[in-house]
Amino acid sequence: MKVLLSESDLKNIVSRLAAAIAADCGGRRLLLVGLLKGCQPFLGDLCRALSSYNLPLTLDYLSAGSYVGTQSSGRVTIGDQLSAYNWPDYEVIIVDDIFDTGLTLSEVVAHLRRQGAVAVRTCVLLRKAGSTRVEFKPDYCGADIGNHFVVGYGLDFNERYRELPDIRVLSEEHYQGSK
Ligand code: IMP
Ligand code: MG
Repeated sequence: MKVLLSESDLKNIVSRLAAAIAADCGGRRLLLVGLLKGCQPFLGDLCRALSSYNLPLTLDYLSAGSYVGTQSSGRVTIGDQLSAYNWPDYEVIIVDDIFDTGLTLSEVVAHLRRQGAVAVRTCVLLRKAGSTRVEFKPDYCGADIGNHFVVGYGLDFNERYRELPDIRVLSEEHYQGSK
C-alpha cells in the first residue's frame, strides 16, 4: 500500500494542530472528546503535543460511526458513554480521524449541544476531497487528501490496519482480498 503521510509528516501535522488549539484556548478549560475508535493514536499524540502548553485539559471518548467497509452508510450511531459535565465550564473540541461526508461530526456536534455543551469545536486529522454533504467545516484540519480510502494511524478498513504507524492508501487488491 502506498504511504500517503509518513510518521514524520504526522508528527509535524500534530505539532501544528496542538499549537493552533493552544493559541485559541485563552486559558479556558479544554475538554477533548475523541471519537472511537479511529481517534487513536491521533488523540494520544495530540495530547502529548498539547502537554507542553500547560493547558487545563480533560479527555473523554464517545463512539460514533457511519461506515460499512469503504462506504458511508449515511446513518450515524452515537454511544452514550460520555460522563456528565457542567458543560458551560468547558471549551469542547471533538477529535476525529477523518472528515468525509461530515455527517458523523455534524451529528456529534448536535448531540453534545443537546446535552448542554455551549462552546463546541471540531478537529480532524484528515479531510477528504469531494464528498462533503453538510454545511459546516472542521475548525482544525491536519491535512487535505484526495478522494482515497485510507488506513493506518487509527483508520481502519473493516477493523484492519489501525496499527500502521503512517497513513496509506488502501489498494484495490486489499478490498478484494478482504471481501
Ligand atoms: P463521515 O461521517 O462521512 O464524515 O465519515 C467519517 C467517518 O468515516 C470517520 O470517522 C471514519 O471512521 C470513517 N471513514 C471515512 N473515510 C475513511 C477512510 O478513508 N478510511 C477509514 N475510515 C474512513
Ligand atoms: Mg471513525
